[in-house]
Amino acid sequence: MEDETQEEILAQFKEKRLGGWGLLQLTAGTGLAAYAVWAGILMPGFRRVPLKLQVPYIPASKRQVCNVMTLLKGRTGSLADLGSGDGRIVLEASQKGFSPAVGYELNPWLLRLARFHAWRTGHYGKVSYRREDLWKVNLSGYENITVFLAPSVLAPLQKKLLAELPEDAMIVAGRFPFPDWTACRIEGDGVDRAWAYHIQALRKHHRSSKDSKSAEQTS
Ligand SMILES: C[S@@+](CC[C@H](N)C(=O)[O-])C[C@H]1O[C@@H](n2cnc3c(N)ncnc32)[C@H](O)[C@@H]1O
Ligand SMILES: *[C@@H]1O[C@H](CO)[C@@H](O)[C@H](O)[C@H]1NC(C)=O
Ligand SMILES: *[C@@H]1O[C@H](CO)[C@@H](O)[C@H](O)[C@H]1NC(C)=O
Repeated sequence: MEDETQEEILAQFKEKRLGGWGLLQLTAGTGLAAYAVWAGILMPGFRRVPLKLQVPYIPASKRQVCNVMTLLKGRTGSLADLGSGDGRIVLEASQKGFSPAVGYELNPWLLRLARFHAWRTGHYGKVSYRREDLWKVNLSGYENITVFLAPSVLAPLQKKLLAELPEDAMIVAGRFPFPDWTACRIEGDGVDRAWAYHIQALRKHHRSSKDSKSAEQTS
């Protein structure tokens, strides 16, 4: 008797689950749940950023941080990390003497974590983390920039950096290189690789390739 009712329930359940409508509900439900996780837990603070410019948080490895620092060796002054995550690059840069060392990050949880790390290591006050959209920040005051973002946003970022950065600025990219630029130095291998770029050289190259193009057109 018990078994029978159980079987009945099971059969009913199966029927419901396997019906087209039920399946649709189920997928809609999980889709919604996935979206909620993305928007609420993984990407809070990103509501105003266009979807194709959103970059999820992946922390840099120890070796990657090390490679970035090697490329920045000998440089001092201000540094900005665009999309600073838990602040590990900013903190390391501050320890290496960069001041001010600033991180831009939209995710409030990562900002809290970054501030906690700074406090724990006695760097509170030496580093700063700003809750700002990196696309809206005026970067003209920074000569040393680090980025570790997704390949899809590096192309539009090239334009912004070329337009805003001062002439002797240097940019270090982690994990993914800029698509159209030639690096002046490369450090490390595989996923930990980092690329360094000088704005001055990029602008010169840009100008000369433009000049040769217009020369071709006039000749
Ligand atoms: C791949 S993680 C790198 C984190 C950190 N720099 C590191 O190396 O460990 C990229 C970070 O950029 C942040 N981010 C993405 N788009 C942003 C934007 N428009 N403004 C500010 N931060 C952004 C993300 O929240 C994420 O934490
Ligand atoms: C970034 O590095 C350059 C080259 O070493 C240094 O002269 C400069 O002071 C740094 N940036 C700023 C804004 O100070
Ligand atoms: C950024 O700031 C500099 C110096 O304050 C200014 O000259 C420049 O026009 C600003 N750029 C943008 C895009 O707002």
